[in-house]
Amino acid sequence: MSSRESWVSNVGFVLASIGSAAGLGNIWRFPWLTAGNGGSAFLVVYLLIVVGVGVPGLLAEFVLGRRGRQTPIGALRALVSSRWGSALGTFNVLTTLVILSFYSVVGGWILHYALVSPTGAYFGQPQQYFGTASYGLQAVGFHLLFLGIVATIVFFGVSSGIERASKVMLPAVVVLLVALAGWTATQPNTAAGYAFYLRFDAEYLAANFPSVLGPAAGQALFTLSVGSGAMLTYASYLDETASLPRDTLVIAVSNTFIGVLAGLVVIPLLFSQGIDPGQGGPGALFVALPPAFASLPGGTVVATAFFGTVLLAAVTSGINLLETPVATLVDVFDVPRRRATLLVSVLLAATGSGLALAGPIFQFVSGTLADLLLTVGLFAFVVIVGWLLGPEALAEFRAGSGRFDPLAESWLLTVSWVLPVVVLFSLTNTLASLAGASFGLGGRAVVAVVAAICCRLAVAIAVDTRE
Ligand code: PFF
Repeated sequence: MSSRESWVSNVGFVLASIGSAAGLGNIWRFPWLTAGNGGSAFLVVYLLIVVGVGVPGLLAEFVLGRRGRQTPIGALRALVSSRWGSALGTFNVLTTLVILSFYSVVGGWILHYALVSPTGAYFGQPQQYFGTASYGLQAVGFHLLFLGIVATIVFFGVSSGIERASKVMLPAVVVLLVALAGWTATQPNTAAGYAFYLRFDAEYLAANFPSVLGPAAGQALFTLSVGSGAMLTYASYLDETASLPRDTLVIAVSNTFIGVLAGLVVIPLLFSQGIDPGQGGPGALFVALPPAFASLPGGTVVATAFFGTVLLAAVTSGINLLETPVATLVDVFDVPRRRATLLVSVLLAATGSGLALAGPIFQFVSGTLADLLLTVGLFAFVVIVGWLLGPEALAEFRAGSGRFDPLAESWLLTVSWVLPVVVLFSLTNTLASLAGASFGLGGRAVVAVVAAICCRLAVAIAVDTRE
């Protein structure tokens, strides 16, 4: 592995990881799901899960990556066993392929809107415009263009391509979002939007908790890029001097800041346009904003800046998603990097095109399926870190951790005991809702605890028979 590339600097790793986390999840998916699931109720559950599950989970994924020093398949083979490592690593690679397939379609929508914004083409009839742009041949074309941009950056390698791109793109994203949030505050009829988004509604939450939990948990993982092995891959290029807990905190805080900021732009603007927040679906962003842009002097400039910013954010996340399957081909199968990039891109061109032609499938894949894959992936990571590696994971946490060292034990306790149950609870809840099961929250919690105990026993027996 001596010829593996590595990050030129720790700052490069942190910026690239924030670049991965902050993307369409924050700007496109978060407002869509928040608006559709009760606003502030969703926000509260989401934030709690980010802190309680996302942060320790991301740290677990980083620990696996740096310990394994390889992409998911190789790392998990070395850390767990050849059979399980191959199976889980392959599942991770599939997850990134599934996510990038739809991510690239949405990236294509954004690219499309960024390109036509100078003419204000969609200002007049945003719903109809999005209707033609979202699925069909146009969508296929822009998906291919977006994928081409991402593939070109990955083609040129980790340290040169990704690090350079992230350094320029991130500050631009933040500056533009702050400016847009300030501008939104000056728009008429936004008060109800701010209240919907920020005023805590305990009654709504009590009545709707089961239906809010699944999407909020899935979104927390999606936005932090946890559970797919993509962050594991980035951490595999790190050395022992980096403080994983510090880096995790910086990444989670900046990402959450960007998401909440995007909500401050999109949600009040939905209300300002009189659009029912629940009706937007995946198109919420694209139908909510144009009338606001249209009403502004210089609206085409604001619109171009907005979609240009979102495009940058989407590209940095797309890079991380593509890096995992590409680096896997390089690490595990010795395929030259550029050929690997081409191969994976051709595959994604096909799968993404399929989704760009099939709206209902797109919605399922980008919502529930993505949530499920990431949740299962995270469950596997916490089992490996908490139940199998234990002290080895602690040592990895501690290497370079500096003043975060005292937190090591409590992190491992959380990963070993809390996370498996919480993650299984979220999984049970989503599966039960999908299957239309009639048992309530209490029953689902019991199922989750029993399932966690069974998994714990199964792992203990598997380890015993191996020894
Ligand atoms: N976190 C990215 C976003 O919010 O846009 C999406 C993402 C990237 C999800 C990488 C999963 C992943 F592995």
